[in-house]
Amino acid sequence: MSEAKFITLEGGEGVGKTTNLQFIEHYLASRKIEFIRTREPGGTPAGEAIRNLLLGLEGLGPEAELLLVFAARAQHVDQVIRPALAAGSWVVSDRFTDASYAYQGGGRGLDPAAIGFLENWVQKGLHPDLTLLLDAPVEIGLARAKRRGGPADRFELEVPVFFTKVRQAYLERAECYPERIKVIDAARPLAEVQADIARHLDALRPS
Ligand code: TMP
Repeated sequence: MSEAKFITLEGGEGVGKTTNLQFIEHYLASRKIEFIRTREPGGTPAGEAIRNLLLGLEGLGPEAELLLVFAARAQHVDQVIRPALAAGSWVVSDRFTDASYAYQGGGRGLDPAAIGFLENWVQKGLHPDLTLLLDAPVEIGLARAKRRGGPADRFELEVPVFFTKVRQAYLERAECYPERIKVIDAARPLAEVQADIARHLDALRPS
């Protein structure tokens, strides 16, 4: 049996994470690969409670936001991700630590060294095997997110320049970790986006 893999999906608002997560699930299920789908912030009872605070609580400062994100992540890593991987199940997470570098580092302007400290402390060497970064110009993503409707959360209420910084930080991460983070141009037709995703997933599996 091949070693279980940890895959994360990242990107700004309106880049098509939900649709492409379904595609990844279908890809794995049709190849009889056992997996769990999870998300951040969230993935555990405590993590989901923290998610509600992060998305809804008014007046949360950047440092408090970062610490809450990592509090949720600590639970998620220990209670869900590590046990699943140890049991041979692949893990597909809708966002992980690259989102902290993008949103809290890029968007909020926090020192990446602080994020790096928490990352090392909480993850103890655990990193995704593959990160798919769905990338699209901010205007396109925000227009798509707006069409989706529904009430906006704390992040979705941010100004466009915030999302420009988030996007830049994600792309810088991808430049630093080209082996792990694959940038996918999500402004293209869905079939092309998904062909790219399938190619990266194919490369993860032993031939
Ligand atoms: P989502 O459902 O769009 O993924 O919503 C989660 C929000 O949480 C999204 O706006 C990004 C934000 N977030 C952070 O700010 N930092 C993090 O580390 C993670 C995982 C998410």
